[in-house]
Amino acid sequence: MESVFDGAAAGIDHLKEQDRSSFFHPFTAIKDQRAGSPIVMARASGCSITDVDGRTYLDGAAGLWCVNVGYGREEISSAIAAQSRELPYFHSFNGISNAPSIALSERLLRLAPAGMKRVFYGSSGSDANDTAVKMLWSYNICRGMPEKRKIISRAYAYHGVSVASGSLSGVPMVHQHFGLPLDFARHVSRPDVYRDAPARQCRSEVEYSALLAREIEDMILAEGPDTVAGFIAEPVMGTGGVLPPPEGYFQAIRAVLDRYDVRLVADEVITGFGRLGAWFGSQLYGMQPDLILTAKGLTSGYLPLSAVLVGDKIWSVFEEASADGRVFAHGFTYSGHPTCAAAAMANLDILEREGLVDRVAEIAPVFARLFRDTLSGLQLVGDIRSAGLMLGVELVADQASKAAFSPALKVAGRVSLAARRRGILVRALPNSDTIALSPPFIVSEAELAALAVGLGEAINDVAVELRAEGHL
Ligand SMILES: Cc1ncc(COP(=O)(O)O)c(C=O)c1O
Repeated sequence: MESVFDGAAAGIDHLKEQDRSSFFHPFTAIKDQRAGSPIVMARASGCSITDVDGRTYLDGAAGLWCVNVGYGREEISSAIAAQSRELPYFHSFNGISNAPSIALSERLLRLAPAGMKRVFYGSSGSDANDTAVKMLWSYNICRGMPEKRKIISRAYAYHGVSVASGSLSGVPMVHQHFGLPLDFARHVSRPDVYRDAPARQCRSEVEYSALLAREIEDMILAEGPDTVAGFIAEPVMGTGGVLPPPEGYFQAIRAVLDRYDVRLVADEVITGFGRLGAWFGSQLYGMQPDLILTAKGLTSGYLPLSAVLVGDKIWSVFEEASADGRVFAHGFTYSGHPTCAAAAMANLDILEREGLVDRVAEIAPVFARLFRDTLSGLQLVGDIRSAGLMLGVELVADQASKAAFSPALKVAGRVSLAARRRGILVRALPNSDTIALSPPFIVSEAELAALAVGLGEAINDVAVELRAEGHL
């Protein structure tokens, strides 16, 4: 089928003008958008995406960490079309249900780590985080502990942008200009083996993990254990810098949380459904969470859907409270959306049939090696870290001292733009000059090599600019 904008260049220019005059883009500087020429994506297949001007990019980021099975999967599109013809929508309030959501719930509990009892649906990672916050609050109210409602998160973590999830996020730009975070949220240090561990003179990762766990314990004690409901973490921190946990991190934290009756929430919005080479990151790192939050990879981004998996401890309290007539009065118009559930089922079919989770585990060492071999020698590259198909390249002004560039130089942003000019899509993360990669699980070795080479060239392009500007 021809797209509406195929054809005359005048039509494309008009489209771009309409974008500038009507579309309020998320996380976009208005003045830049008004002055620039937007990239308008048109179609995609596999790991490649093409814009209306006919330029094709290799998508090293899988959209926003989500198009895990790749673009152009007819099977998912057909499942969406078929379900939307049969029953496009109905709600799931008051116990009303639909077959795709039932099948998906049963399947998610089968795939999830042991101890998960029920699945609660929404449409985004942010709403999954909000649901988790309200579950923790309600759980403690049901237990007669209404004051136990603070949630500890980590500096620079990204858990979303709604009022509650934005409060859990530790990204300054998500707080500034909104008067956030709300006062239920607290933040401790993120695990940063490259910078923070040596700065604190840790001799091993285990020692660093113990120190970070102690920081959480100190915070719980300072706040008062009776006021702390939960601790939330991604198995591997994504937007906060692509930071895999140091050895023993979650085991050490788990022990602290257990001591003070604090529930653990695993935000697996990025890591769920295979990105780390296991179905869930919680399994890889022995987290034993009480809630698991998922979205993105659940449908590979083909439709919006989130799922909160509820563990035994919390579920049993809700079940008991329900005997006294309590209702968990929370839910969305689109909770249990049948068409989104059908998309998720088709996506999971692909992951299972093609063995893509195992493939991630197999290709992860190749991915890491290719990027190390290609980028390690470059002047701006300070650290390369990875887990599964997530990889971060931290850029520095000086490798020996690890000196960072001035944030005003926006070095990572410039590298991501330079990469785009070379036909490669990667993400510049906020708050550290880190470039993130998270390609689709079907990425070939040749595509990985092209991403590594293209990123290396982009880094060199920016090094040349910085030298010319006198910053190097
Ligand atoms: C770990 C994590 N949690 C939550 C979110 C928020 O998801 P959404 O943008 O769908 O609200 C994101 C988004 O990138 C994320 O990476």
